[in-house]
Amino acid sequence: MENFESVCDYLKISTPVNPVVCHRPHAAARSARWFLENFPGDVLYAVKANPSPLILETLYQAGVRHFDIASLHELQLVHHFPGARFYCMNTVKHPEHIRRMYVEFGVRDFALDCLDELDKILAMTGSARDLRLHVRIAVDNSASELPLDHKFGARPGEVDELLIRSRTVAAQLGICFHVGSQSMDPAAYAQAIERANRLISRTGVILDSLDVGGGFPAAYPGLQPPQLDAYVSAISDAFDESLTSETCRLKCEPGRALVAESASILVNVTLRKQGWLYLNDGAYGSLFDAAHVDFPFPVKAWRQDQPLSLRQMAEFRFYGPTCDSMDAIHRPYSLPAAIKAGDYIEFGQLGAYGDTMRTRFNGLGDRDEVVVRDEPMLSLFTAPAGRRLADVRRPF
Ligand SMILES: Cc1ncc(COP(=O)(O)O)c(C=O)c1O
Repeated sequence: MENFESVCDYLKISTPVNPVVCHRPHAAARSARWFLENFPGDVLYAVKANPSPLILETLYQAGVRHFDIASLHELQLVHHFPGARFYCMNTVKHPEHIRRMYVEFGVRDFALDCLDELDKILAMTGSARDLRLHVRIAVDNSASELPLDHKFGARPGEVDELLIRSRTVAAQLGICFHVGSQSMDPAAYAQAIERANRLISRTGVILDSLDVGGGFPAAYPGLQPPQLDAYVSAISDAFDESLTSETCRLKCEPGRALVAESASILVNVTLRKQGWLYLNDGAYGSLFDAAHVDFPFPVKAWRQDQPLSLRQMAEFRFYGPTCDSMDAIHRPYSLPAAIKAGDYIEFGQLGAYGDTMRTRFNGLGDRDEVVVRDEPMLSLFTAPAGRRLADVRRPF
């Protein structure tokens, strides 16, 4: 993969036809170091957010040793890392995948949220005695931008029995939850820990781990969350007050917060039709979240290697390159009014749930990759304005 000082330097020598993933591994390493230094427990990287081998290697080199995988394929991407531990935190798995993960790859950590899945795990592992089971409980997702609670989490009628039965068969028992992706309120974690606490006191199970999941936010335009310190403090305080803190280890599973800043995607404008720009990437590519869940991303417009002047701005919506009318981004984006076919738009903060969402629909989906050393458009990991880096107790 070619390296450039900046996106600008890349555009000096290239007029890319495909969308281009502009990786910023230095940003992934920085956020990994922050989590490893500040989170008071194990940090599991949720591979789904960005499974690029470059980013996985960067996170491993930065010290990440725990990986949340959702499938055999994701497991195979990280399995070669010496000393790493792999957790299958997808609550619903194909039986054959459970068997292969356990027998061929040595996975012992499995998440589940219902009794049928417990039976399935036991059946496919020959009722193994060395399982580390993580019961996913349902918690409030209302503070998040992307709630996950409809699909996942043990329901009130089943959760007590699931915890008690899992405790009797597991070598280690954990509770896990997810407060929803891009959680805007640290208190959501504290409330979820309180819910776990109530379940523990009601069922009397002893826990070996409490996994507070993902959901840690990244910065997006109009979605500026509290500082990540506030999330760690809320979790630490609630955990220290909980029944579990004596016996169990805290874990988290960040995806978005670890890698959102680690890539931008450079797309080409192929046509301008009034207020609509047709792009070479869209809803079936790395702009999936922009199209399907209306997520806002920072943008920067380029005419070859020159940023377009911001003096006169206009609002534009986007169409992607496929023949499907759903391939559209209806949120208006403010861009230089002069933008035209042939120009490039760089979408920032797409290191998480960007390139990984790309499909082959309509025979499209090719993209190029480069490494750049310039800074992400937005960051939660750089020093706040007015403070010297030395004043910030962080490793950068
Ligand atoms: C089980 C699990 N863990 C962690 C994550 C990562 O979440 P986030 O990217 O919000 O940090 C997800 C995301 O869907 C998930 O399903």
